[in-house]
Amino acid sequence: MASLPPVLFSVIIVLVCTCQPSYSSTDRDLLVLTVATSETDGFVRYIRSLHIYNLDAEVLGMNQEWEGGDIANDVGGGQKINILKQELEKYKDDKNKVIIFTDSYDVIFTSGKAVILDNFDTFDARVVFGAEDYCWPNKDLASQYPRVSFGYKYLNSGGFIGYAPELYKIVTSHDITNQDDDQLYYTEVYLDKQLREKYSIKLDTQAKIFQNLNGQFADVSMKIGEGDVQIVNTVYQTTPVVIHGNGPTKVLLNSLGNYLAKSWTPEDGCLACIEDKKDIGALNKKDYPVVLLAVFIEKPVPFLEEMLEKVANLSYPKQRMDLLVHNQIELHKELVSKWVEAQESAGYRSVQQQPYDLKEWHARNNAVDVCLKNDCDVLFSVDGEVHFDNPDTLTLLLKHNRPVLAAMMTRDGQAWSTFWGAVNDEGFYARSNDYMDISNNNRR
Ligand SMILES: *[C@@H]1O[C@H](CO)[C@@H](O)[C@H](O)[C@H]1NC(C)=O
Repeated sequence: MASLPPVLFSVIIVLVCTCQPSYSSTDRDLLVLTVATSETDGFVRYIRSLHIYNLDAEVLGMNQEWEGGDIANDVGGGQKINILKQELEKYKDDKNKVIIFTDSYDVIFTSGKAVILDNFDTFDARVVFGAEDYCWPNKDLASQYPRVSFGYKYLNSGGFIGYAPELYKIVTSHDITNQDDDQLYYTEVYLDKQLREKYSIKLDTQAKIFQNLNGQFADVSMKIGEGDVQIVNTVYQTTPVVIHGNGPTKVLLNSLGNYLAKSWTPEDGCLACIEDKKDIGALNKKDYPVVLLAVFIEKPVPFLEEMLEKVANLSYPKQRMDLLVHNQIELHKELVSKWVEAQESAGYRSVQQQPYDLKEWHARNNAVDVCLKNDCDVLFSVDGEVHFDNPDTLTLLLKHNRPVLAAMMTRDGQAWSTFWGAVNDEGFYARSNDYMDISNNNRR
């Protein structure tokens, strides 16, 4: 191939140079900060997502008393700024340190350092806040915002990124009590034109880094790629990195969380499901978790005798089980009483039958109370129409080491199952996008 004419060649060189960010991603530190006062399931999910992308968080405020109010539904959160203030003092002179601060209970990361810094560089700013379509908590400030022709207009403080010195100046620019609203605080700094320019603050109006889901859920979709699932913002054609289930979108984030951060991949299915398993089988029998086995016969059922026999046949050590039975069906009275009597010599920790005339919901609630009173580790609730064809069922379930596990039962060839993919605003059944795939056992 003929060599390029010299003039064109030098033009290319210039272009390449000006397109480079002033620092490459690897030269700079990226510090991930969050404030969390307890290790909720959401927090564990957040930490897991960071680890997947080789990040780690410095967690501030753990086990401190939370005084910042119920921020999922109300104003508050000033405490986050006060905790952050102390920490940022350490880094206030470090001009090359980039810090990304996010919430944690309702946040999932979907990429690592290089992507975050590259996306940050495209803003040509020292500080970038996430954005959303709602002007919260003070709607009256909406008119003071700079015009945004294409993108989300208003500041959301659930996630921001910036250089340490500017962030320190922002969090120390004025006083805030623990009960004041943190988003209002940052909004006031941003709306002050002088401060906005001095600290070079911009909003992530097109979700290049921060995707707030409240009001924006229709803008995003899941992109199932090879080895990973990402969120894409189909309105702005971006692939945000910090997915934030702000406000009432926590349940939606939970369903996305089943896929994000390599929780699930098209090749291997649910990877998060096989993490943190517990080898119950390796335990000495006397160290097995204590299980309250609660059996409920609340309607007439066929094959009850076999059902009960299979319960008795469970391979789990009986010395680690309490048995609690409730039957409210006349037809089954004799059979159940005889069976319960026979179980008394089977080696359970205890055997008890709930009163026949107890209402079903009382019987079910009572099982929880009995479990707690007996210092149980696990409540295993079984209805009369359930048959255990595998005597190792209970051991197998406990190996999954999950706080709650429920069976999914389906009817062959019908779109019916005991699994709910989603809930609507009234808390009732809603069908999720993946409902058919999951109930047909095509996605697992
Ligand atoms: C219960 O276990 C016994 C002994 O292994 C077996 O013969 C019987 O068929 C089992 N019962 C049921 C209903 O599976």
